[in-house]
Amino acid sequence: MIPHRPGGQKLALVMVGLPARGKTFVARKLQRYVSWLGYRTLSVNVGDYRRARAGAKQPAAYFAPDNAATRGEREGFAMAALDDLLDWFQEGGEVGIYDATNAERLRRNTIRQRCAAAAVSVLFIETVCDDPRIIDANVRHTKLGLADYAGMGAEEAFRDFQARIAQYVRAYVPVEDDEGSYVKLIDAGKQVLSSRIEGYLSSRLVFFLMQITPTDRPIWLSRHGESEFNVVGRIGGDSPLTGQGTEYAELLASFVRARTAHPVVWTSTLQRAVATAAPLGHEVETWRALDEIDAGVCEGLTYEEIKARMPDDFAARAHDKFRYRYPRGESYADVIQRLEPVIVELERQRSPVLIVAHRAVLRALYGYLMGKPQDECPHLSMPLHTVIELTPTEYGYDEERFAL
Ligand code: F6P
Repeated sequence: MIPHRPGGQKLALVMVGLPARGKTFVARKLQRYVSWLGYRTLSVNVGDYRRARAGAKQPAAYFAPDNAATRGEREGFAMAALDDLLDWFQEGGEVGIYDATNAERLRRNTIRQRCAAAAVSVLFIETVCDDPRIIDANVRHTKLGLADYAGMGAEEAFRDFQARIAQYVRAYVPVEDDEGSYVKLIDAGKQVLSSRIEGYLSSRLVFFLMQITPTDRPIWLSRHGESEFNVVGRIGGDSPLTGQGTEYAELLASFVRARTAHPVVWTSTLQRAVATAAPLGHEVETWRALDEIDAGVCEGLTYEEIKARMPDDFAARAHDKFRYRYPRGESYADVIQRLEPVIVELERQRSPVLIVAHRAVLRALYGYLMGKPQDECPHLSMPLHTVIELTPTEYGYDEERFAL
């Protein structure tokens, strides 16, 4: 689907690291990013296989590396997950994520051999963290709610999980230089080490991984206020705001000011977006990448005019809105390509961010943040005069919409 990617490459992203080091956080971010870029993606989590097949509630001793009674069973779950991932690669999968501790070298060797036999490249992604504050917070936020601890008090569950981690520590060997390609994310992204990275996609993933760290800052997405073209149903162009649009700009400024004194504000370069952010009185960064989808020869027309003058194009767009490219303009797929720097910068930001842009562009951004399949993007609801507030959760975002 991606126009400029090397064809036929199959890549397994194999997570490595002790429990509660943020592996699943990283795995989910990668999955959203890679699938948004258009690759066929699947993530398997060995813990889910264990919970489904052996029952969620297991004492810490179950995870002991020298527990002869459970070691074979655990290995079996890991291999069952790998079998499923390799089957999926056989059926045309492109980027598979294998989410497990993979703390022992022996296991990683097996994974590498089996992937090599299936012509799948491996990139190990290891999360390393020795800061007890980060680890404890991770345990409290992401582990105590697992089915493993249903019905158990928070403190007891917390102690049990620490005991489970201690079992893994006994056998853990960090990825070594002779194990092939790897990236190590140290202390929630403070340091990133990479070795033997090969190819365009892997390099791009390392670059992406350098930007991500957990944060709790919200993101606000808003279309510009009503424009003169909106009123008459014309698409594209660069028309100014109407009176109602200007009113919305004031309301949007109050909305943001009530929530933060220091927003980062990004708009497109088009006057309706710049004017919508203006009442905030903040420094605004304008991005060409945030300009509305380029409707090419259809810029300035209404949908009725397009249907009457270019019926074949109108039908083609209705048939495949994601891939349809306006003559001398863009498709949604093109918009996603040019938005990539915005995504990378958004991942890097630690302050609340307000993005004032346009319907198609915001659908694409929202699709990435909420993990929507590409084909759904062009059909997402993105009304005027509505702020979408996205607040980070452990592995994604909570959404609230405010019609102002
Ligand atoms: O009508 C407003 C607008 O932003 C146009 O400029 C743009 O072409 C269109 O919406 C995108 O929406 P759709 O992809 O549904 O036509």
